Amino acid sequence: MKKYSRTLLFVLACSATMHAQKAKKTNIKPRNEFIPELMAKMTVDEKIAQLVQFTADGTVTGPKSGNNFIDEIKKGNVGSILNATGVKYTGELQKLNMDNSRLKIPLLFGYDVIHGYRTIFPITLGETASWDLAAVELGAKVAADESAASGIHWTFAPMVDISRDPRWGRVSEGAGEDTFLGSKMAFARVKGFQGNDLMSLNSILACTKHFAAYGAAEAGRDYNTVDMSERVLREVYLPPFKATVDAGVATFMTSFNEIAGVPSTGSKFLVNGILKKEWGFNGFVVTDYTGINEMVPHGYAKDEAHAGELALTAGVDMDMVGGVFLKHLKLSLAEGKVTMAQIDDACRRVLEAKYDLGLFHDPYRYNDAKREKATITKKEYLDAALNVANKSFVLLKNSNNVLPLKKEQKVAFVGPLVSDEFNIIGSWAATGDRNGFAVSIQEGVNKLVADKSKVSFERGVEILKDDRSMIQKAIASAKNADVIVAVMGEFENMTGEAASRTNIDLPGIQKEFLAELKKLNKPVVLVLLNGRPLTLTWENENMDAILEAWYPGTMGGDAIAQTLYGMNNPGGKLPMTFPRNVGQVPIYYNHKNTGRPYLGAKDPEQKYKSRYTDSDNSPLYPFGYGLSYTTFEYSNLKLSSSALNANGKLKVTVDVANTGNYDGEEVVQLYVKDVVGSVTRPVRELKGFKKLLIKKGAKQTVEFELSPDDLRFYNIDMKFVAEPGDFEVFVGGNSDAALNSKFVLVI
Ligand code: GLC
Repeated sequence: MKKYSRTLLFVLACSATMHAQKAKKTNIKPRNEFIPELMAKMTVDEKIAQLVQFTADGTVTGPKSGNNFIDEIKKGNVGSILNATGVKYTGELQKLNMDNSRLKIPLLFGYDVIHGYRTIFPITLGETASWDLAAVELGAKVAADESAASGIHWTFAPMVDISRDPRWGRVSEGAGEDTFLGSKMAFARVKGFQGNDLMSLNSILACTKHFAAYGAAEAGRDYNTVDMSERVLREVYLPPFKATVDAGVATFMTSFNEIAGVPSTGSKFLVNGILKKEWGFNGFVVTDYTGINEMVPHGYAKDEAHAGELALTAGVDMDMVGGVFLKHLKLSLAEGKVTMAQIDDACRRVLEAKYDLGLFHDPYRYNDAKREKATITKKEYLDAALNVANKSFVLLKNSNNVLPLKKEQKVAFVGPLVSDEFNIIGSWAATGDRNGFAVSIQEGVNKLVADKSKVSFERGVEILKDDRSMIQKAIASAKNADVIVAVMGEFENMTGEAASRTNIDLPGIQKEFLAELKKLNKPVVLVLLNGRPLTLTWENENMDAILEAWYPGTMGGDAIAQTLYGMNNPGGKLPMTFPRNVGQVPIYYNHKNTGRPYLGAKDPEQKYKSRYTDSDNSPLYPFGYGLSYTTFEYSNLKLSSSALNANGKLKVTVDVANTGNYDGEEVVQLYVKDVVGSVTRPVRELKGFKKLLIKKGAKQTVEFELSPDDLRFYNIDMKFVAEPGDFEVFVGGNSDAALNSKFVLVI
């Protein structure tokens, strides 16, 4: 794996040291003295104010709220503001607050910095497709530094929702379908955002969201009902959340959805039970946007006052935008429906976070205009974004090695996204510039190809509009080309929040345009800019090559051009299954076998099996799948023993040879199957992966280690244990890996 530039790491280290020293200048008591002394002086109103977050008038991230945040700040009614950005604006709001705060308690500024603040990295699903934890951590570290340099203290990220349903638009923000991969990514992102010292000016508070199981919304419809067994909740959806607690995450956000009849925002079982008690989380919990108010339409609270009582009692510490705590909590206290201890606990948690950031030392320490100017989109950060984008691409098809392109070829670039600088940075792109700063594919190609007669650029069609007026001009440009590259996909707002789709084909008449291009009998390369798995069955049959590029961010055009022309060899792997058709959804690799597993065409019983009569069960592209410009061969799978004992370790080794003509990175994946359990077990589960660069012609031996802890699951008694018995191991370059071996767990 490419080491990140020493310059970049040096820049980050210096800036951390320099800024950390600043904080030490102010004499202030240790937190365990300072906070109790402060709280002893606070009135009930001042304590409740710390539990109140309102949105400023910057980015809009939810339904209109009736609050006047400026007035509420002046009244000392606000503990935190979201959607205010920039040193100047946040500095002004902080001053307005400090001038009106009797006890000089600073505001906390939160913002959705999901995959970059101004230097935008690939969407999170794309970053995850890199399977490169260092790359993902670096992306978060860069985002944190740019955010902190711009007056932001707290990001509402990482979003760690596992999802098996590409109809749900928010898959673009997460780490895909797998718990093991999602947990590793979640841990890396928290480390990137928070660093090792929250007092450092390069760090910001992270916020694990959306707690919990938001990605399991029925029918992939955003905000819809979630209902599952506690076993599935704990085995599939909760581990990435727990991984962030292990990483020291400072805050959590509850989800909009209910689980088994209880909205997460009012769930004692989830918040006080699992998060705070079982996992020992000692940060603070914010709701999602008006999540408390929404317990009334959920039918779980009779009115907003009741909703506020349910939320505080469940363990929620801060009310995002809803205004419920501000309006009702004091009366609820007087009526004995909540306790002062509950309010104190919530207030303490919020104040501790502010202390840890150094805001009591200096409320304006994140408001350094010179630093902001020097930090935003600095070259090292743009280079990092380019590097991560290059790692995020997944090569889905490459017949006859039509890729990489050669500069002497005449290439017709067509499609609605060929010169796009707006959608390329994806949804949830914070303050990312959509008006010309991002590098389009056309720009990226023109930088690489000196002879402009070799390339042409025509839209041909729009993404959604039924407009065929440009097709002939594009066809004409393609007629003289050696290769056609079609750049297609979704608008950035077709994924992200409130963007579920029942049809996940390429939208509009893009496929029709591809069919016209196909008639020219020239190689057609499809480059996809999209935020979810799409149904590409026709494209897979008719395109010569397909490159999944997600939304690759600010430097996306350069990265795609470098990949198309072979300067970068794509090594990404799918973090989510791509179905053949939407009727298969939910579809995911670690499914159960059922009592009538369908073995495909060779199954002697073709009728009475768990199958469809109109489609294969198998996906179009499986989880973990991705090609390369080179080829890799796996052999010599060995286990250190055929038995694993209770306190033992099992070494798994495999040889991986680069048998092609390019150096390339491969993600070697280890899957395990628990053959029989006290409850049924998945057909296989990811238990390890290693991404490594293998030079052409070289072979490397890759080693994994398994222990009984890796084999634990919630057994019939809901005990998290490993059970003795037979296990199978599969190793390869995707979740269909066939190379296998066996061992027995002896306990
Ligand atoms: C939105 C999203 C959440 C985001 C929050 C603040 O509704 O659900 O992910 O962090 O509001 O913008």
